[in-house]
Amino acid sequence: MSAAPELPPSPPMSADLSRLFARMLEEIDRPESVEWDAGESRLDPAVYADPGIHAREVERIFRRLPLCLGHADQLREPGSMIARDLFGLPLLITRDRDGEIHVLLNVCRHRGARLLAGEEAVCSKATLTCPYHAWTYGLDGALRGVPGATGFPGLDRSAHGLRRLPSAVRHGLIWAIMDPARTEIDVAGFLGPIDTDLAGFDFGAHRFFRQHARRRKTNWKLVMDAFQEVYHIKKLHAATISPFFIDTKSTGEGVGLHTRILVGRDRLPEAKTLSPEYWDLRRHCTLTHAIFPNSLIIYHPDFTSHMGMFPAGPGEILFVHTMFTPHEARSEKERAHWERSFELIDEGVFGAEDLFISEQIQLGLASGANEGGFVLGRFEHHLRRFHGNVAAMLAEGG
Ligand code: FES
Ligand SMILES: [Fe+2]
Repeated sequence: MSAAPELPPSPPMSADLSRLFARMLEEIDRPESVEWDAGESRLDPAVYADPGIHAREVERIFRRLPLCLGHADQLREPGSMIARDLFGLPLLITRDRDGEIHVLLNVCRHRGARLLAGEEAVCSKATLTCPYHAWTYGLDGALRGVPGATGFPGLDRSAHGLRRLPSAVRHGLIWAIMDPARTEIDVAGFLGPIDTDLAGFDFGAHRFFRQHARRRKTNWKLVMDAFQEVYHIKKLHAATISPFFIDTKSTGEGVGLHTRILVGRDRLPEAKTLSPEYWDLRRHCTLTHAIFPNSLIIYHPDFTSHMGMFPAGPGEILFVHTMFTPHEARSEKERAHWERSFELIDEGVFGAEDLFISEQIQLGLASGANEGGFVLGRFEHHLRRFHGNVAAMLAEGG
């Protein structure tokens, strides 16, 4: 990343993050981390390719847990909306005229036509009118108008609004459960202690900067794997971000289904000389929250990335990267700096390195080369836990 023109003040750390930071400082001089577990283990490559496993993951994980769909500030103006197809559900994410966010099914309640065409359409409208017979809906999903209403004398309009998914905005992020049969969503309960971590960053006051959604030919878990170990940073990212990090120095822990990981940046040793109030999570380290199942939040020095991996099959994802910043760009120089940062991270690091290598792995899965299983080393323990959590949910899903 290029140097920030002006770095924002350090965010207050949760008690858990301070504890992790202190542990990170202890790790600097250790040749072996205290976190490394007993030994290597094997991971069956079929978990990335088996259509049956994929179908169960969708049913038992992705349709049941709250998923993060991005930053609410992307829909800044009342009347703005995004159409996005996830897990076979055509969705409309809207902000209604009262400013409230809704996640609705993009399907007309008359005879099922799609209201907003396209998969990634973003637009601004006062109402939604079906292109087929012009039933009209408010952005809260309420059915507002039925042309030729005399043809439907018994129609209960209140029962024919757009179907909605349970959704909530928490920490400025939009969360929803991909099941219209559910009505409740408890994001704080789902996040557990991660909720306290996120509260300290005040994302609700951050501004949407850029988003890039693309389809890539990889299993979603290969991408989650890549962000839960630091073993590859010096090699895969040698030409991009490697110089900013100390080789494989990291500390992390499971938090329920989720994970928090700190990776030591080149400036970390300086923190050893500072009292804790000067420890800076973004400048001395890079924090990653891996929020189960498919979200990653990465805390760069002066902006934040959210990535969502939405599987469309065992070997395909919609990868949505959203960048948000602590405030609106205050100068052309600052805007240009963030543009360059987005380009480097989104295309150079995520696209050309992490997603690229995930696709390369996917291509070889059927070859039989790793019949005995992939080898996970002692420092790849977060992958062991992550895959264990996936397997446990598939087993208990009923
Ligand atoms: S299908 Fe939408 S108005 Fe008929
Ligand atoms: Fe990476």
